[in-house]
Amino acid sequence: MKYSGYAYVNTIGCQMNVYDSEKLAAILTAYGFEKTDDMDKADIVVCNTCSIRHKAEEKAFSFLGRFAKNKKRDPGLITVMAGCVAQQEGAKAFDRLPHLNIVLGTRAFERFGQHIDAVKSGKRQIVDIQDSEMIYESLPDAACFDETKISRFVTIMQGCENFCTYCVVPYVRGRERSRSPEKIIEEIAVLGQSNVKEITLLGQNVNSYGCKEGEISFPRLLSKVNQVDGIRRIRFATSHPKDLSMELIRAIKELDKVCSHLHLPVQSGSDRILKKMNRGYTKKEYLQQINELKQACPDIALSTDIIVGFPSETLDDFNETLDLLKAVEFDSIFAFAYSDRSSAPASKFPDQVDEQEKKDRLNRLLAFQETVTEKKNRVLTGKTLSVLVEGESYKKRDGFDPGPDNLKQMYGRTESNKIVHFPSDHVKIGDMVEVTITHAYPHSLWGHPLECKT
Ligand code: SAH
Ligand code: SF4
Ligand code: F3S
Repeated sequence: MKYSGYAYVNTIGCQMNVYDSEKLAAILTAYGFEKTDDMDKADIVVCNTCSIRHKAEEKAFSFLGRFAKNKKRDPGLITVMAGCVAQQEGAKAFDRLPHLNIVLGTRAFERFGQHIDAVKSGKRQIVDIQDSEMIYESLPDAACFDETKISRFVTIMQGCENFCTYCVVPYVRGRERSRSPEKIIEEIAVLGQSNVKEITLLGQNVNSYGCKEGEISFPRLLSKVNQVDGIRRIRFATSHPKDLSMELIRAIKELDKVCSHLHLPVQSGSDRILKKMNRGYTKKEYLQQINELKQACPDIALSTDIIVGFPSETLDDFNETLDLLKAVEFDSIFAFAYSDRSSAPASKFPDQVDEQEKKDRLNRLLAFQETVTEKKNRVLTGKTLSVLVEGESYKKRDGFDPGPDNLKQMYGRTESNKIVHFPSDHVKIGDMVEVTITHAYPHSLWGHPLECKT
């Protein structure tokens, strides 16, 4: 059916959810809805949700909760909970959100349209958390959506089977399945022909791409993506340390479009905790991989994820993590206080760490990392780096000379994924510009462009 009206899609969670939301939005467009940025004007509201930590889950409930009053005013309003919380909660979502119409699980997207039809014809509540044979391929192509973005995500695989003991993903995203290389390349080729310049390939563990299906390996996939016209940079996330291969390290080194940056989540520096987390490697093995990476690609930027306060984590364990941060000197980290998830096994582990203690450890860790990030950024002062321009920026910095008043200020990212601000009145979004760095701060670099290479 075709409808008229406005659709509002709110996204909580990881990059994969951003990609999924584009698919949901494309379905809504195909059904005749027009995208709006004004949620109060919407005739259909979708919240694409995340359940990785308690806070994210609460955000979903509180966002959707707001629409109870809109629904009173406009009984025709359709409200949809999609994604990971929907998959986890199923019909239980209606207990807290009685005004909700559709609960759409992570693998039920291809039936979204028919559920909208059912609600339009009078059905009040629908739950679909069933699996689908095809993921993504049977959905409308999101390639034509949001043409302003020069950097796009492409999900190459669904699900996860690593079962880290703290994590909900294997339960809410299901078994691991890889898309075919042909479909992935086809999608990226369409993006490359539009104004997209950068692609980030997504999977919970990209290193196991294609294993089950007997497809080409992830590094081989990278080399195929490397040949797609129009694409200038390739990123990917996430790599699991237990599956990082020499072949991948070689691909990072040799493929010209693959950025010299690796996100390699370590989670903890304590072997005892890593074992309880079921991560499948030790601190020593992780550090060995980092050494191999640094030897092969001396300028590689490294980032990681850390969880502090995992059940039974002692101060000694925590110090092992700090010690690992000191040894590696990551360019950036994402650190989280452990959040108890009832579907994950660690929720049954004894010796849960006190909330305040978790916060204190998190703050100590972040404060330490800030000094490392700043130090790593400072080394870049005086260097000239390639920056892919993402937009106009309005930030100001004391001590930085922005040039004449009429110069626009732009921003973009280096290959190592650091944000650079620079004045220029002739570069466009999507240009690659050489910028000499003059000022370094913990979260950004500032400089002046040499020339414009379009
Ligand atoms: N597949 C990726 C990341 C998935 S989730 C990987 O294996 O690294 C992103 C990050 O959220 C994880 O790396 C972890 O650091 C964090 N995370 C996952 N579950 C969590 C929990 N229960 N509490 C706190 N942080 C968690
Ligand atoms: Fe979660 Fe571990 Fe899978 Fe990452 S690898 S999604 S942390 S279970
Ligand atoms: Fe969250 Fe689901 Fe991503 S739980 S982190 S949105 S896979």
